[in-house]
Amino acid sequence: MGILDGKVAVVTGAGHGVGRGHAVQLAEAGAKVVVNDLGGSTRGEGQDESVAQAVVDVIKARGGEAIADANDVSSWTGSKAMIDKAIDSFGSLDILVNNAGILRDKMIFNMEESDWDAVIAVHLKGHFAPTRHACAYWRDKSKEIGGPVNASIIHTSSSVGLLGNVGQTNYSAAKGGIAMFTIAVGQDMARYGVRSNCVAPSGSTRLLPSAGDKVVEPDEYTEYDPRDPGNVAPLIVWLGSDLSSQISGQVFLSIASTVTHFEPWKAASHVTVPGNDRRWDPAELGQALEEIVFKTKHPGLYGGMQYGADSPLRRG
Ligand SMILES: NC(=O)c1ccc[n+]([C@@H]2O[C@H](COP(=O)([O-])OP(=O)(O)OC[C@H]3O[C@@H](n4cnc5c(N)ncnc54)[C@H](O)[C@@H]3O)[C@@H](O)[C@H]2O)c1
Repeated sequence: MGILDGKVAVVTGAGHGVGRGHAVQLAEAGAKVVVNDLGGSTRGEGQDESVAQAVVDVIKARGGEAIADANDVSSWTGSKAMIDKAIDSFGSLDILVNNAGILRDKMIFNMEESDWDAVIAVHLKGHFAPTRHACAYWRDKSKEIGGPVNASIIHTSSSVGLLGNVGQTNYSAAKGGIAMFTIAVGQDMARYGVRSNCVAPSGSTRLLPSAGDKVVEPDEYTEYDPRDPGNVAPLIVWLGSDLSSQISGQVFLSIASTVTHFEPWKAASHVTVPGNDRRWDPAELGQALEEIVFKTKHPGLYGGMQYGADSPLRRG
């Protein structure tokens, strides 16, 4: 008995890296899985249907159930076809993992319009379109059965979307947007019994320039390795399962064997004009704001833990 027995999952971008680990371990936990992957380059160019099929073959060889899907998640109609494929092939949809991603790193002053558009399309629209089609299905189903559908969406952000990084303004904007999208989707869908959570993953994948030729796919590791992108999957399996039915609108950072819970943007402190009966003078306001800004403690990344300059986890 697996904790996902009877559930149907779609994982986008599951042909390589982190998503491949999710798909294989969701299937190991009992889910029937639609393995989506366009099969393009890390820049989002080209396509290859065999990439998704290779992961389906791994899952089947291990006794699981899966089918391949090569739709582009940034396409409205492609995403609809992917969601419909899960429902038509396996009879329902319970878990959607939005994971597909590309990189087009450049400093802001060199970034081309096409670099911005491509990254925003795959990440942000590639989260919106599958989520929108899945949520329409779940809302209809909820009305039909007269109650909550008990479904789970897991989105994919990045430490870069939560904390920023040099040379990745397009990716930061997309991944930060995904973290807030997570919360807003959870608010829209709570009444229908659909949870929405977000994971910022890590792992030595082809997406990391520093990984070079050393990329090993998650199902190929034979023993625990902190660089294994498959280390993120236990969190995905738990978030997809009924064991996490109280959890929604949350963002988690997963690195090797550590999972960090992130709090969303929240008010830290404020200033009010003395007497509270007039508008601020700009310089007076600036002085008051500097006081609270510089009083705020900045503990550093992840409460003191920082990536080393040569860490394979530093970018992506
Ligand atoms: N590896 C890390 O350390 C890390 C860190 C933070 C965030 N992430 C995020 O995790 C996710 C997975 O990244 P990864 O490192 O496994 O990279 P990866 O390149 O190994 O896997 C991404 C997969 O997405 C697929 N894909 C790209 N565009 C697609 C599209 N339009 N439609 C369908 N499939 C598409 C690619 O073909 C690829 O197989 C991404 O969203 C990435 O931004 C990764």
